[in-house]
Amino acid sequence: MADDRAGAILVAGAAGFIGPMVLRVLLRETDRRIVVLDKLTYAGRRDNVTRAPERTEDAQRVTFVQGDICDLAVQGLLEAYGVTWLVNLAAESHVDRSLGAAPDFLRTEMQGTLNLLEAVRATPAVTKFVAVGTDEVYGSIDRNAGYEGERWYALAREQSDLRAVVREHLFREGAPLRPGSPYAATKAGADLLVHAFVNSYRRRDGSPMPCVVTRGTNNYGPFQHPEKLLPLAICTLLRPDVGKAGRRRVPIYDDGLAVREWLHTEDHAYGILRALQSADAGATVNFGSGVRCLNRDLLLAVFREVSARAGTPFASLAEASFPAARAGHDLCYGADCSAARTDLGWEPRHTDLDREIGCLVQWYIDNLDWWMPVWESADFDAYWESKYAARMADAGNAPYLFYDEAATDRSLAQALV
Ligand SMILES: NC(=O)c1ccc[n+]([C@@H]2O[C@H](COP(=O)([O-])OP(=O)(O)OC[C@H]3O[C@@H](n4cnc5c(N)ncnc54)[C@H](O)[C@@H]3O)[C@@H](O)[C@H]2O)c1
Repeated sequence: MADDRAGAILVAGAAGFIGPMVLRVLLRETDRRIVVLDKLTYAGRRDNVTRAPERTEDAQRVTFVQGDICDLAVQGLLEAYGVTWLVNLAAESHVDRSLGAAPDFLRTEMQGTLNLLEAVRATPAVTKFVAVGTDEVYGSIDRNAGYEGERWYALAREQSDLRAVVREHLFREGAPLRPGSPYAATKAGADLLVHAFVNSYRRRDGSPMPCVVTRGTNNYGPFQHPEKLLPLAICTLLRPDVGKAGRRRVPIYDDGLAVREWLHTEDHAYGILRALQSADAGATVNFGSGVRCLNRDLLLAVFREVSARAGTPFASLAEASFPAARAGHDLCYGADCSAARTDLGWEPRHTDLDREIGCLVQWYIDNLDWWMPVWESADFDAYWESKYAARMADAGNAPYLFYDEAATDRSLAQALV
C-alpha cells in the first residue's frame, strides 16, 4: 500500500452516535486531519463532533462541513482536502422509522453510497473507502434456523437449547442477505453497490476500487439518540414525566425475547480503523463482541443500574414498562467475527456487559444536558405519541413483569446466549 500518512480522512455522518467515537479513535491513533461531512438530520448534532476529541489540541485537526452525501459536490471535497481515507457512517439508522419513511432510507443509504463510490472512482488519491454496514442485512437467525414465531418464543423462554441454536447459526460474511426491514434492505443494497463497483471498475490510473464493507452488530455507548432501545429505556426510567402523555414507560417488544449482540462503539471504531489500515479491496468484515443476550435480561440490568445509581426503588420499576410489538421485528441477531480477528488482528475489549451497562447508565445520568433537550422536544414527543401512546394506553396501568421475578439478581454474565 502506498504511504499516504499525510492524507486527510473524510468521515461522513460523524455527527451521530457512532461517529464521535470513530473521530476520537482516529484522532488518538493517527496524526491526520479529519473532515466531517454531515447533513445534520434529526439524528446529527454539531456538538457531538465538538465533544469527540479527548485533547483540546486535537480539535484543531477536525474540520466540519455541513452537507449531504447524495450531493455531487462530495467529489470536490475529496480533492480540496486531500482525502486519502473515506469512511461512510451517514445513514438513516432507525429501523422503526424506516417502516414509515422508506424513501428517505433508500435515498441516503443507496443513492448516497452510489455517489460516494463515484467520487472514489474519480479520485485515485483515495486509497481506502470503508462503507460502514450492519449485520441486519443477513436477516434474523430465527428465520434462518426454522424457529419462527411461537417456536422462537418457546426456545427463548426455555433457554436450554437457545445458546446452541444461536451459535450454530451465527452469520458469516458469505451468508445470503435476507433483510427484514426497509432499513436493512437499503443497507444491503448499499453493500451490493460497493461490491458491484469493486467488480466493475478500475480508476482512471488503473487502480482497483479500494472499497471495504464492514458489518457491525448492535452498538451501544455514549451519544446514542434517545429513540434507540438502550437510551430509550434509560431516559424513560430517569425522566418519565414528560410529553403529552404525561408519563412515558419503557416499551418491551416480544416480551423481551429477542436476542441482540452488543458491540461497544469504541470497539467498533477500532474495527473501522483496522479496516482502513489493512482490509483488502472488496472485503466484507463482521464486527461483533460475541456478547449476546435476551432483551429482557439486558433491560433488567438497565433497571437494576438505574435503581442503584439514581436511587429509584427497584419495586417501582415493574410499573415502568408496557408490552409493545411491531410486525416483522427481527428476533435474533448474531455474527461470526472470526475473520476480523484472523485477517485484521481486531479484538473487542468491552465484553463485560454488566460493567458496561453500569457505565452507560452513568453516562446518561451525567449528561442530562445532552439528552434532555431532545427528550422534551416537541418533535420527539410527536414521534413518541405516534409510536407508543396508543399501545401504552391499551396496556393499562397494571405492572408489567417482563422479567422472571425469581431471577432479578441474575447478572448478564450468567445470561449470555
Ligand atoms: N447504531 C448501531 O447499532 C449500528 C450498528 C451497525 C452499523 N451501524 C451503521 O453505522 C452507521 C452510523 O450509525 P449511527 O447509529 O451512528 O447512526 P445515527 O443515525 O446516529 O447517525 C447518522 C448520522 O448521519 C447523518 N446523515 C444522515 N443522512 C445524511 C446524508 N444524506 N448526508 C450526510 N449525513 C447524513 C446524520 O445527520 C447523523 O449525524 C450507519 O451506517 C449504520 O447503519 C449502526
